[in-house]
Amino acid sequence: MRKSALITGITGQDGSYLSELLLSKGYTVHGIVRRSSSFNTARINHIYEDPHEAGRRLVLHYADLSDSTGLRRVVEAAQPDEIFNLGAQSHVKVSFENPEYTADADAMGTLRLLDCVRDHCQHTKREVRFYQAGSSEMFGAANPPQSESTAFYPRSPYAVSKVAAHWYGINYREAYGLFITNRILFNHESPRRGETFVTRKITRAVGRIKEGLQDKLYLGNLDARRDWGFAGDYVEAMWKMLQHSEPGDFVVATGEAYSVREFLEEAFSHAGLNWERHVEIDPSYFRPTEVDYLLGDSSKARKALDWEPRTSFKTLVRMMVDNDLRLASDERLVHDKKYVTSDPRR
Ligand code: NAP
Ligand code: GDD
Repeated sequence: MRKSALITGITGQDGSYLSELLLSKGYTVHGIVRRSSSFNTARINHIYEDPHEAGRRLVLHYADLSDSTGLRRVVEAAQPDEIFNLGAQSHVKVSFENPEYTADADAMGTLRLLDCVRDHCQHTKREVRFYQAGSSEMFGAANPPQSESTAFYPRSPYAVSKVAAHWYGINYREAYGLFITNRILFNHESPRRGETFVTRKITRAVGRIKEGLQDKLYLGNLDARRDWGFAGDYVEAMWKMLQHSEPGDFVVATGEAYSVREFLEEAFSHAGLNWERHVEIDPSYFRPTEVDYLLGDSSKARKALDWEPRTSFKTLVRMMVDNDLRLASDERLVHDKKYVTSDPRR
C-alpha cells in the first residue's frame, strides 16, 4: 500500500523540499494551500499535477489552520498515515506586529489539527503519526548550546506560540497515546527561503547590487548568532523522525553558529563585493526582544536517527548567492527590456 502524507504549509520553503522527498519515496502527498488573491504555489509548481490526471500523487486542498471544519474535511479525504504540521506565521519580527494572528495560526492551529487527529484515530482505529514543527526560537534567551534538556525561554509571540504547540503535542501524546513527534529545528535556509528572512534578504541584495539594480541594504542587528543549516538536509531528518520506532522530541542543528555579520562577509565576498560599502543599519528592523545566540546540540537526533547535516555554512551561503545572482541577472534583462514579453501592455 502506498503511504499517504498530509503537509500543512506545503507552499512554504520546508513544505516544498519535503514534498519532493516524500514523492521520491513513493508517497501520495496531500497539501494544504491557503486561499490567496494571487498564486502562492511558486515553490511547488514544478511538482504540480493536474487534478484531471488519473493516479496523481500530489493532491492540494484549500484549507487554513484557523478553520477546524476545513481541517477535518482534509484529514478525512487524505486518510493520512503521517501528518507534517509545517504551516505557521513563521516570521519572528512580524509576530510582534500580529501577535494574535500568530497565536491563532501557530498555537491554536496546531491544537485544532491535533484534535482532528485524535477523533480520526478514535473513529477509524488507524494510527496517524504527527510531526510538529517546533523551533529553536523556543530556547530564546537560554544559554548556548541548546539541546532537548534546555529549558525554554521564548522571546517573541511567535516563540511563545511554538512553545504552546510543543506542549499541546506532548499532552496529546500522553493523554491519547498518539504518535506525536516534536522537532526543534534550528534555522535552515535555501534558495527557496522567504525573502524577508535575513539570509535571503542578504543574498537577494548581493545579486541585485552586483547587477546595479540596488545600492543599499538596510538591516537590523548584525551581532545575532544563528546555527544555519540547509533546508534540504533538514527535511530528511523530519521524515526520519516519523519512521522512528518511538515518538519523541528532537533537536536538529549543525552545531556551528555564525553572526549575521559573518553571513554578510561570506555572501558579499563570494560575489566580489565589500558589504561595508552597501549595508546600513535601520533600527526599525531591531526586535523588541532579541534572541542573541542560538547554537544547537543535536547529538540525540544524530544517534537515534542516524542523521547528520551534509551542507556546510560556506556551501549554503554560496548556493544561495549563486541562485540569487542568476535571478538578478534575469531581472536585469527585464529591466533593460531585452526580454521579449507576451504582456501586450509592454
Ligand atoms: P514558511 O516558508 O514561512 O512557510 C510557512 C507555510 O505555512 C506556508 O506554506 C504558508 O502559506 C503556511 N501558512 C501560514 N499561515 C497559515 C495558516 N493560517 N493556515 C495554513 N497554512 C498557513 O516557513 P518554513 O521556513 O518552510 O518553515 C516551516 C515550519 O517550520 C514553520 O512552522 C516554521 O515556523 C518552522 N520552523 C522553521 C525554521 C526555519 O529556519 N525555516 C526553523 C524552525 C522552525 P503561504 O505560502 O500561503 O504563506
Ligand atoms: N528578518 C531580518 N531582517 N532579520 C534581521 C535583519 C533584517 O533586516 N537584520 C538583522 N536581523 C537578525 C534578526 O534580528 C535575527 O537575530 C537574525 O537576523 C535572524 O532573523 P531571521 O532570518 O528573521 O530568522 P529568525 O532566527 O528570527 O527566525 C527563523 O528561524 C527560526 C528558528 O530559529 C524563522 O525561520 C523562524 O520561523 C524559525 O523558527
